[in-house]
Amino acid sequence: MTSPDAMTLSPASVSDDFPADGRFEQQVTFLLRFAILAPSTYNTQPWRFRVSCDGVEIFADYTRRMPVADPGGRELLMSIGAAVMNLRVAAAHFGFGCDIAYNHSGASEAALANVRLTPAVAQHQVDRALAPLFPFIMRRHTNRHAFLLSRIPVSVLERASALADGTEARAMTSTDGERNARIADLVARGDRTLMADAAYRRNISAWVHAHAASHADGLPAQAFGFDGRLAAIAPWATRVLDLGKIRAAHDKNLCLEAPGLIALCANDSTGNFLAVGELLECILLHLTCDGLHHSYFNMPVQVPELRTELQGVLDVSVPPQLLLRVGYSLSEPIRTPRRPIEEVVQYL
Ligand SMILES: Cc1cc2nc3c(=O)[nH]c(=O)nc-3n(C[C@H](O)[C@H](O)[C@H](O)COP(=O)(O)O)c2cc1C
Repeated sequence: MTSPDAMTLSPASVSDDFPADGRFEQQVTFLLRFAILAPSTYNTQPWRFRVSCDGVEIFADYTRRMPVADPGGRELLMSIGAAVMNLRVAAAHFGFGCDIAYNHSGASEAALANVRLTPAVAQHQVDRALAPLFPFIMRRHTNRHAFLLSRIPVSVLERASALADGTEARAMTSTDGERNARIADLVARGDRTLMADAAYRRNISAWVHAHAASHADGLPAQAFGFDGRLAAIAPWATRVLDLGKIRAAHDKNLCLEAPGLIALCANDSTGNFLAVGELLECILLHLTCDGLHHSYFNMPVQVPELRTELQGVLDVSVPPQLLLRVGYSLSEPIRTPRRPIEEVVQYL
């Protein structure tokens, strides 16, 4: 894990002062500063980039996989997909053409994506659907506070679903109280099952930190609502105590009160995990643009029996990969840190 004295990058500190007269590799590095603002499971930031003469290769950093919470690297790959989406959005905003060749072979040393970036392309070659999402890369944050009860316009949720069109994934939205209550039960059961497992608790506690400024990765305890003395003991408490019942009650309530739930569903494959990650970030940037906040309820997806039940409740032909709640909030979510760009970028 990154040492505490590493200079951390917070979204607020990313300048959008593009080096128009800089070398190609400086420009690509500049774009990558936005890629790494993507969400990642437990803020593990499991990516590496190699800048070449015509673009960038994107690799998984499997040393950052969570062996118990994410044994197959499913969430790791989704996190990388989210970073790919941010790169595509930033490239479009700064006038780059962006062609991506994916490699789904699963070989751990191979690049997962080879992104060819063409500077200063003609307007019609820029992805005009993605460019307007750029400002929301800096504004998107996971918000674990309670949301307001205000309803979400149907058109907003319909658009989130439609963003999955043409992909292998489905984005199922639900505002149905009865169905959401059944999902809330699964979330609570997921919390109790996972937190009862000491190995799982050890794994996640390694990525929870007592102080917001002490690490360049992982999650400050404040992100879960712990403050002061509670924050100081949060990593220890997460590791040692089975807080499953407390967490289950808390999450169940948040889920029941959520104005909307979104489940991203797809069959299990390396390509689909990357695609779900891209879809996730695209949806989140759109929701942020609409003034909405989001957080995750992945526990039932991480427990195989509950995942099957969740698929039944959602009445969808492919299994769920991610479960989110969305709504409006007056509370500002805490900013999570990022590792310095120099730590994740190499040059050919
Ligand atoms: C694939 C994936 C799974 C995630 N799962 C959870 C989760 O189960 N619970 C949670 O609180 N946050 C979850 N997150 C959110 C991350 O913790 C969050 O993105 C990270 O800490 C960075 O913070 P930010 O989203 O505010 O930039 C997940 C994110 C991704 C990309």
